[in-house]
Amino acid sequence: MPSIVVSARSGAPSETAADTRVVPLFEGEKLDEPHLQALVDLGEARPGLKKVAVDHEDAPGGGRRRVLLAGLGKREELDAEKARVAASAVAGRAKELGAVSLSWASPDASVADALVEGTLLSLYTFDRFKSKPDEENGNGPGGIESLEIAGDGVDAAGVEHAAATATAQNAARDLQNLPANVADPTFLATRAEEIATHHDALALEVLDRKDIESRGMGAFAAVAQGSDAEPRLIVLRYTGGTSGPHLGFVGKAVTFDTGGISLKPSGKMSEMKFDMSGGAAVLESMDAIAALKLPVTVTAVVPSTENMPSGHSMRPGDIVTAMNGKTIEINNTDAEGRLILADALAYAVEQGVERIVDLATLTGAIITALGSTYAGLFSNDDDWCQQVEEAGKTTGELGWRLPFHPEFSELIKGKYADLDNAPEGRKASSITAADFLRNFVGDVPWVHMDIAGTAWDQGRPYVGKGASGYGVRTLVELARRAAA
Ligand code: BES
Ligand code: MN
Ligand code: ZN
Repeated sequence: MPSIVVSARSGAPSETAADTRVVPLFEGEKLDEPHLQALVDLGEARPGLKKVAVDHEDAPGGGRRRVLLAGLGKREELDAEKARVAASAVAGRAKELGAVSLSWASPDASVADALVEGTLLSLYTFDRFKSKPDEENGNGPGGIESLEIAGDGVDAAGVEHAAATATAQNAARDLQNLPANVADPTFLATRAEEIATHHDALALEVLDRKDIESRGMGAFAAVAQGSDAEPRLIVLRYTGGTSGPHLGFVGKAVTFDTGGISLKPSGKMSEMKFDMSGGAAVLESMDAIAALKLPVTVTAVVPSTENMPSGHSMRPGDIVTAMNGKTIEINNTDAEGRLILADALAYAVEQGVERIVDLATLTGAIITALGSTYAGLFSNDDDWCQQVEEAGKTTGELGWRLPFHPEFSELIKGKYADLDNAPEGRKASSITAADFLRNFVGDVPWVHMDIAGTAWDQGRPYVGKGASGYGVRTLVELARRAAA
């Protein structure tokens, strides 16, 4: 996807050089410009959220230009999420009309960032494997090349931050969408290398199969042993400054999850190319954090492998030892995410991180519990969990905390080893998965985000169906808050 140039401008919004300007319309308010108010009086332009009306006017430099009247609802109810939604409705219509340059008159300086996010995220497309662009989806030639947010008080740095972050989120969506025969663990490591070479403050370390085995990562190695594709433990270290705690971001990157010997049913198995969504969000968030030069320290750890059935696969009943010495009975080879994360979390702790967030498409049960609206949050630390939840409210990537209880911990005790990766009966299975992970973080404040429901087909107006890039903006927001 060609990138869109984003800028901020103070002064009169109508003085824009863009071919399409956007005028916000609130319930019960009149517009200053009579020719636009006439459209409201006619009932053609309506103030409801997502409504978009089209008008034309003389452009200051000669010729004609387009005006889009964008419904935003009630002014006192405007927030960032509504601004993202309105921006996506406007972007969709503008694209259909062949707009090349778009200028939003910002209704309030506080939603300028959200307008950028809603626009860039909703214009995302993934059509590199189509021999002809899909005209039906509006993916013809051309497209929107620039976005300006105009108005007094619009913060240029904020707009730049939003553009970098939304661009990183779209890059994560690309990684998600790439099929598993392209985006294998080696491919993800190469992408991490590309990110690292762009920024001086980023350093890359990649462990291969031999390294993973020799470091005692027996749980990760067990998942990887069934696959001919080589696994990678991808580590990105960002040293942008020393304010705030040393953050650790960990992301599950199973590039294809067949279930292994505990094979999944074939229906919808193709969706399991998205089982690397957590890792994609972590990698691309590091690109944005480094581009924004946030003055923090972040270590990203992304364990990546396929989960395949073969003559050398792990089998149900196998017992392995993780890097921290705990033994695990593998009773279901499809509960592979917690196995690779066990070693990745222990590795992050060994690196000295002081706050951990992990993102993982870990359980189908979280989709049943929270749909695509909330990610499941699980934590060993109330304060850190609250900070992650608050960051999510800011970005619109919502999370809802679920509980731990000693009775759940009973369920994951192994019969022959310390832990059981998949207790029978699947009681509280999102929680037992999280509780399993808790065994590998020691005393470090940690939040696990189960993103199986939010990573794709989220259905938010500005991300739609398909890969959502969920988590990128929240990780960047956490780094920003740590720096403040
Ligand atoms: N990657 C899946 C979870 C998943 C399923 C994500 C559907 C998105 C959509 C994970 O590895 C898995 O298979 N989990 C099992 C665990 C079970 C075997 C204990 C599950 O949730 O069914
Ligand atoms: Mn699985
Ligand atoms: Zn999985």
